[in-house]
Amino acid sequence: MGSYQDSYRQSLADPEAFWLAAAESIDWVTPPTRALDDNTAPLYRWFPDGVLNTCHNALDRHVDGGRADQTALIYDSPVTGSKASFTYRELRDEVATFAGALRSLGVGHGDRVIIYMPMVPRAVVAMLACARLGAVHSVVFGGFAPKELASRIEDARPKVIVAASCGVEPTRVVEYKPIIDEALAATSHQPDRVVLLQREQAPATLGERDVDWDELVADATPAECVPVQATDPLYILYTSGTTGRPKGVVRDNGGHAVALAWSMPNIYDLHPGEVWWTASDVGWVVGHSYIVYAPLLTGSVTLLYEGKPVGTPDAGAFWRVVAEYGVKALFTAPTAFRAIKRVDPSAAELAKYDLSGFETLFLAGERLDPETYHWASEKLGVPVVDHWWQTETGWAICANPRGLDDLPIKAGSPSVAVPGYDVHVLDGDGNDMPRGGEGAIALKLPMPPGTLPTLWGDDDRYVESYLSRYPGYYLTGDGGYVDEDGYVYVMGRTDDVINVAGHRLSTGSMEAVLAAHPAVAECAVIGVADDVKGQLPRGFVVLKAGVEITEEALRAELVAAVRRDIGPVAAFRDVSVVDGLPKTRSGKILRRTMRGIANGRDEPVPSTIEDPAVLDAMRTVLRGGDRTSS
Ligand code: COA
Ligand code: AMP
Repeated sequence: MGSYQDSYRQSLADPEAFWLAAAESIDWVTPPTRALDDNTAPLYRWFPDGVLNTCHNALDRHVDGGRADQTALIYDSPVTGSKASFTYRELRDEVATFAGALRSLGVGHGDRVIIYMPMVPRAVVAMLACARLGAVHSVVFGGFAPKELASRIEDARPKVIVAASCGVEPTRVVEYKPIIDEALAATSHQPDRVVLLQREQAPATLGERDVDWDELVADATPAECVPVQATDPLYILYTSGTTGRPKGVVRDNGGHAVALAWSMPNIYDLHPGEVWWTASDVGWVVGHSYIVYAPLLTGSVTLLYEGKPVGTPDAGAFWRVVAEYGVKALFTAPTAFRAIKRVDPSAAELAKYDLSGFETLFLAGERLDPETYHWASEKLGVPVVDHWWQTETGWAICANPRGLDDLPIKAGSPSVAVPGYDVHVLDGDGNDMPRGGEGAIALKLPMPPGTLPTLWGDDDRYVESYLSRYPGYYLTGDGGYVDEDGYVYVMGRTDDVINVAGHRLSTGSMEAVLAAHPAVAECAVIGVADDVKGQLPRGFVVLKAGVEITEEALRAELVAAVRRDIGPVAAFRDVSVVDGLPKTRSGKILRRTMRGIANGRDEPVPSTIEDPAVLDAMRTVLRGGDRTSS
C-alpha cells in the first residue's frame, strides 16, 4: 500500500499542506493561503480566503487551455432516439448564453434556482449557468411528486425554476408542467419565473409566469464568470432523512472543486481527454459530482445517458454505449447490474460489442452484494471497484483508489478510507470497536474538502442530526466494521433511510402518507431485501376501530397515495393490514427488530417488549406466512 498509505497518512497528519497542494489543480481568482477554517467548529469551512468560479474551472479554462475543440459532453438517449455531442467551446458558449438569460431574469450571486429536468444536456447547461453567476442551484429528481418538489421550493426559495416540459421513461412520457403547477399551488414562496425547455414528446402550454427557453436565449447576452468565495454555496441538494422533511445538503464552491479534481486521477485513474460515463441521474449526488462537475473540472469527456440498463432496448444497452464511445470507466449503482443479470444472466449481449478500451467498473450508491460483484467481475474481466459515500460527503469516503495504488479488492467491502477521511467504528458509548466489531460508522471531524459545511439555512439541524450523537464525529447513519487490513465493510443504515434501486428514500415520509389515510390508526414502513432493487419498502397498517374497507381497496388507495405524495420512485407496492405492531412498553414501534426478521435474521425478543404475541404474529407475516389480521 505504498502510495496510498503515504497519501492517507499525510492527509491526516498535515491536512493544510495536503489540501493546499491539491488546490493547485484549480484556477483561482485569489488563491487560498489557508486550507481549513476551524473558527466555528464543529462547523468547518475550507479555503476561507480563496476566490474562484466553478464554471470557469469546468469550462472556460479548458477552452483557453487547448481543449476548446475536444468533446466535453456526449448525449445518448435511447428513449428518444437521439444523440448529440458538445465540445468544450460549444458547451461553454451555451452555458454563457443561458447564464446571460438567467441574469436577464434577475438571477445573481447567491440567488437560488430550482432545476427540475430529465437527463438532457440542458440540465447540465442550467447547472453550470448557475455556477457561472454565483447562483445556487438545487436540482430535483424527476421521479418525485409535486409535494416533494413543493417542500424543496419552500425551503430553497428560488428566484427562478428551470424545467423541461417532460421526462421520457421507457413506458410513458412524464409531463413536468402539471407537477410544477401543482407544487407551486401548494407553496407560499413563488418564484418570479419558470423557464421551460419544450420537448417534442410533450410540449407544455405556457402560462403568464412561464418563459420558453429558446425564446429567452434568443435575446440573451452571454455572461462572464462571477468570482465567488470558496465558501459560498454552489448548490443545495435535498436528500431523505429519517423524518419526512428532506435535508438541504449544502455544497461549497472551493472545497468541492478541489476534492472532485483530486478524486478523478487518484480514485478513478481518469485523466484529461479520457471518456468517462456515470450512469445515474443529475437529480442525485452521483450525477452532480460524476456526470457534471468532476469530469468537466478535469477536462475529461462525460457521457449523459437518458435510458435504462435494460429495456432501452435490451440488456446490451450499457455495452453498446461503452463500445460506441470508447468509455474507459463506467460508474453506476449495483442495481443496474442486477437488472442486467436478471435479463441476461449469461451476458450473451456482451459478445456483440468491442469492450477492449474498457478498464474499470465503479459501483456505489448501495451495498455491492458479493454475488453481483462476482458476476460483473467474471463477465467483464475488469476490476469492479465498490466505493462508499453519501449525498452529504459529495465524494467517496471509502474506495480502492485506482490512481494511487494497486490495492487488492475484497468482495463485500468498498476497501479503505480515502485520504482526508478518518473513519471510526464506534460502540453506543462512543468508544472505538475492536477490529472486526460492528458498530456505527462515524467520521472524525473535520471531514475533508467537498463534504457538506451545513444544511441549508439550518446549522442547528446539521449539528443535531449529524454531530451531536458522538461529539467530535460526523455520524454517517451506516453501520459496519473494519477488518484487520483496514478494509471497511458497510452493512446498511442504522436509521430509517432505505435505498431502493440506488435511490435514497425515507420510510418516515412513507409512514406519514399512510398515517394520513382516514382508515389507518397506526403504521410502520421498513425496507426489505429485493433481488434487483436492493431494498423495497414494505408497509404495515393497523385499522381504526369500526372501519369498513376491504384490504384490497385500502392497499390500492395507500399505494396510490405514496405515489401521489412521494412519487413513483418510491416503488411502494406492498402493504399489509395487521392486528397490531410490535412495540416497547413505552410505545415505540420495534422497526429495527421487524427489519431484522424481514431480512432473515433471528432477532431476539427485546426485554422492553409490550406484548410478545404481537411480535410472534409479525414474525409470521414477515417470514411470508399469513397476515396477522383475523
Ligand atoms: N422521472 C419520472 N419518473 C421516474 C424517473 C424520472 N426521472 N425515474 C424513475 N421514474 C419512475 C419509473 O418510471 C418507475 O415508474 P413506474 O412505477 O410507473 O414503473 C418508478 O419511478 C421506479 O423507477 P426505478 O426505480 O428507476 O425502477 P425501474 O424498474 O424503472 O428500473 C433500474 C430499475 C434498476 C433499471 C433503474 O432504477 C436503474 O437504472 N438504476 C440505475 C442506478 C441509478 O440510477 N442509481 C441512482 C443513484 S447512483
Ligand atoms: P445517497 O446519499 O443517496 O448517496 O445514499 C447514501 C447511502 O447509500 C449511504 O449512507 C449508504 O447507506 C448507501 N451506500 C452508498 N454507497 C454504498 C456502498 N458502496 N456500500 C454500501 N452502502 C452504500
